[in-house]
Amino acid sequence: MESRKRILTGDRPTGKLHLGHYVGSIRNRVKLQKEYDCFIIIADLHTLTTQPEKENVEQISANAREMVLDYLACGIDPSISSVYLQSAVPEVYELNLLFEMLVTVPRLQRMPSLKEMAQNAHLNEMPFGLLGYPVLQSADILMPRAHLVPVGKDNESHVELTREIARRFNYLYGDTFPIPESLVQGGTLVGTDGSAKMSKSLGNAILLSDDANTVQKKVYGMYTDPNRIRADIPGTVEGNPVFTYHDMFNPNTREVDDLKERYRAGKVGDVEVKDKLSAALNAFLDPIRERRERIAEDSGYVDQVIYEGTAVAREEARKTLIEARKAMGLAGIWNRISRKAEKRRKKQDTVTPSPAKESASQ
Ligand code: TRP
Repeated sequence: MESRKRILTGDRPTGKLHLGHYVGSIRNRVKLQKEYDCFIIIADLHTLTTQPEKENVEQISANAREMVLDYLACGIDPSISSVYLQSAVPEVYELNLLFEMLVTVPRLQRMPSLKEMAQNAHLNEMPFGLLGYPVLQSADILMPRAHLVPVGKDNESHVELTREIARRFNYLYGDTFPIPESLVQGGTLVGTDGSAKMSKSLGNAILLSDDANTVQKKVYGMYTDPNRIRADIPGTVEGNPVFTYHDMFNPNTREVDDLKERYRAGKVGDVEVKDKLSAALNAFLDPIRERRERIAEDSGYVDQVIYEGTAVAREEARKTLIEARKAMGLAGIWNRISRKAEKRRKKQDTVTPSPAKESASQ
């Protein structure tokens, strides 16, 4: 087991997952877990960087449960992959602080992801913690000494920063961390409205847990070729979200090719194209939905998965922090002080009063 390489990846807990998550990361993780030891972080501390309000904090456990339910339904196997709750691993907070000393503020201000993340917060009112978001992510990644970090394109710069931090740490204090590689995965799935990215907040997402009727309704509402106002007008297939989804989720390529041909020739109505897409999506989602329901019936199972995954992560974190403190010489400071203090206390128990007491009584 120890010889397998390690992966760390994960998500902020935002609740139920959608097809975009599946395409962008989940299906890849399900494959990777066969080859690697996987740590999957539920990055709840990272949600605090933009949403520290109490109401949001109260949502975290419900959101985490829904997300993990989707992981399991898609085939994440908790006996190989440790799914853990970031906020329950306090060693990560400590590692984060140590890493903060190894990064400059201008370096963080230049992070390409910052602008996007700061959308909600005014740039000049940006929380310190949001600027530090990628440093905390570095702590996540280096905590289990991960070799490989599967991430979306938007997180690639964070892994690059992690590499810099790991190199700097190793340079200053001796080899402690492996230099992790990012594995940019998946690609993004267009939304049902044709916008570049599927996202719950944009209201253009098909959830993995949507029932068959909801899927059909969402598919009927999907954008197609805007110039094709009647079924007998030749349409464009390229960049047409309905066909993007067909290509991705309809395994019947003959059917897809036939639909494309007739669409280009103006010989098929949107309804037929969409009905066949709904059928394909539902066939794809059925086993996921079934597993989800089955798992959800066993109340407490998801909590147990998170609980046990977190125990594994904590043990790794504990070991890493000991190594890091030792490498830096922090452990030595405390050892010397405590050794001396304990020795003195032992003697004191039998004889001497403290100098402080003596001077106080004079
Ligand atoms: N930043 C990731 C996101 O966009 C979440 C995350 C936090 C993460 N820590 C991580 C991803 C470590 C991969 C590795 O939601």
